[in-house]
Amino acid sequence: MSPENWYVACASSQLNDRPRHLRVLGKDMVVFRNPDGTASILEDRCCHRGVQLSLGKITDGNLACPYHGWQYDGTGRCVHVPSLPCGTAIPQGFRVRAYPSAEQDHYVWVWMGSAEPPGSPPRLRGAQEYAWKQGVVEVKCSAELFVENMLDGAHPPFAHKGTHPGYFFNRINGFREYDYEVRVSDEGMVIFYPPAEHEQDPIPPTADSVVHFELPDRIYVLQRGLNFDFYNVLHIVPTGDTTCRVEWLTRQRSNEHFVQWCADEPKTLEQDRVLQESAQINYSREGADFERSVPADYATLLSRKIIHIARDQNWESARSGLVQRKLVRVRQ
Ligand code: FES
Ligand SMILES: [Fe+2]
Repeated sequence: MSPENWYVACASSQLNDRPRHLRVLGKDMVVFRNPDGTASILEDRCCHRGVQLSLGKITDGNLACPYHGWQYDGTGRCVHVPSLPCGTAIPQGFRVRAYPSAEQDHYVWVWMGSAEPPGSPPRLRGAQEYAWKQGVVEVKCSAELFVENMLDGAHPPFAHKGTHPGYFFNRINGFREYDYEVRVSDEGMVIFYPPAEHEQDPIPPTADSVVHFELPDRIYVLQRGLNFDFYNVLHIVPTGDTTCRVEWLTRQRSNEHFVQWCADEPKTLEQDRVLQESAQINYSREGADFERSVPADYATLLSRKIIHIARDQNWESARSGLVQRKLVRVRQ
C-alpha cells in the first residue's frame, strides 16, 4: 500500500500520558500528547544513540529519551540535553523526523507521504452518532490478505463457529443459493445483499448485509437480522509486508455517544487471525502460484485488483476500466 495515505496511528482512547510505539509500512514511530492535548508523531529513534523514544516518558511536556534524558518537543526538535553545561546552546540539527498527524473520529492519524497531506483523513461514517467499543489486534499476515478475509462471504459458516451472523444463518437455514451484488465505488468497492433491481439504483436501505471496502484499508461491515444489528468499522493498517494491525470499532446498542476501550481480542477476529497467519506462512514460502479460485472469490479477487491499481496508477481515472457491477451467484 502507498505511503500517500492517512493511516490510523492509534486509538484516541489509548493515548494518555505515556508515549506509544506504532509501526506503519515498516517504519517505527512514537506518538504522544503535547501539553495542549494535541498528538505528535516522531520517528522512534533518538538522534543521540538511537534508543527507541517510545521507551521514554513525558517530562515537562516533552518526550524524554530513557537513555540520557534528551527531550524532544512535538515538532521533533531536541529542546533539552541534560549533560550540556549551563548556557551551552543545543547544536543545530539535533532533531528527529516529525510526521504530519491529525486526530479525528476516535483515532490519531499519521501521514507518511513525501509531500504535505492534501487534507484531513477521510471522515468515518457514524463516528459521532453512536456508542462504540474500540480495540486493536496485531496480525502476522499482510494487510491485503486480511482485507480479503473481511470481504470473503463464504468463510463464516466454517471459520466463525458461534461468533458470526453468517455462521448462525447457515446453521438455521442450511446452505442456500443466492446472488449478491458487488459494485466498484468511488472509494473502492461495496458488496451487498440483496442486490439492487437495476444497475443505477442505490444500495437498498433495507439491505441485510453491506460491506464497504474503502482505499487504502478501511472496511465497514453492516449486518441486520431479526434481533440483531451490527456495525463494525475496521482499518487494516499495513505495519510491514507480512504484518498488519486491525484497528476495530464496534457499534454498541446504547444511543448515547461514548467510546470504550476493549483490551481483549474479539473471538471472531481471533478466528480470522489464526487462519490468515497460517496462510501467510504458505504465501511467504511459496508465493501464490498454488492458488485455485471459484466464482465465490469474485469480491476478494476484485479487492486485490483495486489495491494494485491504487498502488500503481491513478485510482480516479483507472477505476472506470473495471467491471462496475456484478451479481455473484453463490451457495453459502
Ligand atoms: S540515546 Fe537518547 S539521550 Fe542518549
Ligand atoms: Fe472472518
